[in-house]
Amino acid sequence: MATRPLRSFKMTSTKNDLLVITASNGENLKLAKRFVQASKELGAKSKLVDLTELDLPLYNPRTHEASGIPPTALDLTQEMGSVSRWVICAPEYNGSIPPVLTSAIAWLSVQGDNFRHLFNGRPIAIASFSGGGGMELLLSLRIQLTHLGAQVVGRQLMSNSSKPATDEAIQDLLRRLLQMTKLDL
Ligand SMILES: Cc1cc2nc3c(=O)[nH]c(=O)nc-3n(C[C@H](O)[C@H](O)[C@H](O)COP(=O)(O)O)c2cc1C
Repeated sequence: MATRPLRSFKMTSTKNDLLVITASNGENLKLAKRFVQASKELGAKSKLVDLTELDLPLYNPRTHEASGIPPTALDLTQEMGSVSRWVICAPEYNGSIPPVLTSAIAWLSVQGDNFRHLFNGRPIAIASFSGGGGMELLLSLRIQLTHLGAQVVGRQLMSNSSKPATDEAIQDLLRRLLQMTKLDL
C-alpha cells in the first residue's frame, strides 16, 4: 500500500514529532524500529528510546529517599518532556506491565510537584509484541497512562509470532497519533 504523507508534518523541522519508546530489546525493539520507519514515511520525525539500554535503577522508595532522583531519570524526563507524542512498545509480563517500564514511569512521576506533570494531556499510542498478543498489558498500561492524564489513542496494536503487526496497522496508529496535539493545561 502506498504511503500518503500527513500534510501537517514537515521534514524540514528539526524538532521530533514523536518518541518511540521500547521496554524490551527483542521483538518490541524490532516493532519500535518499524514505528520509526513508518513515521518517516508519513513525513514525521521520530526518535527511538530503548529503556533497556538506560542505567536506570529499579524505583525503590528507600533509594529515592537516600539518593534522590538518579541522573539517568532526570535526563529521561528532559528527553521525554521535549517531544509532544509518544509511542510505547512493550511486552506483556505476567498479565501486566513489565518492570522496566513501570519502574521508569514511577521515576518519571516522582519529579516536580505534580506526579502527572510529564503525562498530563500527552497523546500516547500503545503497542505490544507478546507471547499471547499483549491484551492484558495494553489494558493495564492504558489504565496507568490514563490515570496519569495522558490521551491514550483509542486504537492499539497487539501482535505475536502467529499474528505479526501489519504495516497498515502501524501506519493507522501513527496517523491517529500524529493528528493529536498535547493539551495546553
Ligand atoms: C517474566 C516474563 C513474563 C511473561 N509473561 C507473559 C504474559 O503474561 N503474557 C504473554 O503473552 N507473554 C508473556 N511473556 C512473553 C513475552 O511477552 C514475550 O517473550 C515477548 O516477546 C518479550 O518481548 P521481547 O521479545 O521484546 O523481549 C513473558 C515473558 C517473561 C520473560
